[in-house]
Amino acid sequence: MDERLKRRQHRDYESKDMLDTLLNITEDKSEEINRDQIKHLLLDLFAAGTDTTSSTLEWAMAELIHNPETLSKARLELEQVIGKGNQIEESDVSRLPYLQAVVKETLRLHSPIPLLLPRKSSSDVEICGYRIPDGAQVLVNAWAIGRDGSTWDNPNSFVPERFLGLDVDIKGRNFEVIPFGSGRRVCPGLPLAIRMLYLMLGSLVHSFGWKLEGGLKPEMMDMDDKFGITLQRAQPLRAVPVAL
Ligand code: HEM
Repeated sequence: MDERLKRRQHRDYESKDMLDTLLNITEDKSEEINRDQIKHLLLDLFAAGTDTTSSTLEWAMAELIHNPETLSKARLELEQVIGKGNQIEESDVSRLPYLQAVVKETLRLHSPIPLLLPRKSSSDVEICGYRIPDGAQVLVNAWAIGRDGSTWDNPNSFVPERFLGLDVDIKGRNFEVIPFGSGRRVCPGLPLAIRMLYLMLGSLVHSFGWKLEGGLKPEMMDMDDKFGITLQRAQPLRAVPVAL
């Protein structure tokens, strides 16, 4: 921030990013946010937005490499819609339903924050015959909801096709799959996360072929997860890009 403040003093400096926008507010309307609050805000964004997005991307790549037919389908769609040698852009995503389905299916199976963030009941309530007392801590198991066999066929299999033509999204409106939570505390980074995931995954699939390190066969991959605040792979994915 100190560095940026120095640079902003140059006459020809053009302000362009989020830090500049926040610093502009501290200068124009100092009652709204101060430098200390900017630090906390940025720390929050880094903490909430980093592991979640990167582990989703790692799981998506792992599932695609583990399921070579699905990877071929995703790649074919990209080739047909964008064309070989062209880079994926944000405006292409609406024409890539299969890529979108791959990201949704990844978030269904590998909900990055498996128990969402803890909630506290603000009064006695009854839900589906259970009494939740005032003040009780409530953990919502989004991981189990995404794999519920009464909602999903073959719940533990990676089948992006299930989302094609299905009027169920991952944005918190459909309780069958809620990786971003739901309601007033739904993840505020959702629009950014989804956009980044489509673009990053699309680029990795469209620009490179992939093989596993050490000649490991896709069917031999360890697909276990390791429980924590965020859900990482038990064995990190080690994949090597190759020319297509
Ligand atoms: C795949 C990526 C992501 C997933 C799955 C995810 C998921 C979640 C979940 C489940 C919550 C808690 C919601 C609840 O309590 O119901 C949350 C909160 C939050 N997320 Fe995300 N998130 C992701 C990416 C991001 C990104 C990229 C940012 C910002 C750059 C972000 C910022 C936040 C913040 C600030 C909160 C706390 C909101 C509050 O306290 O009300 N998240 N996220």
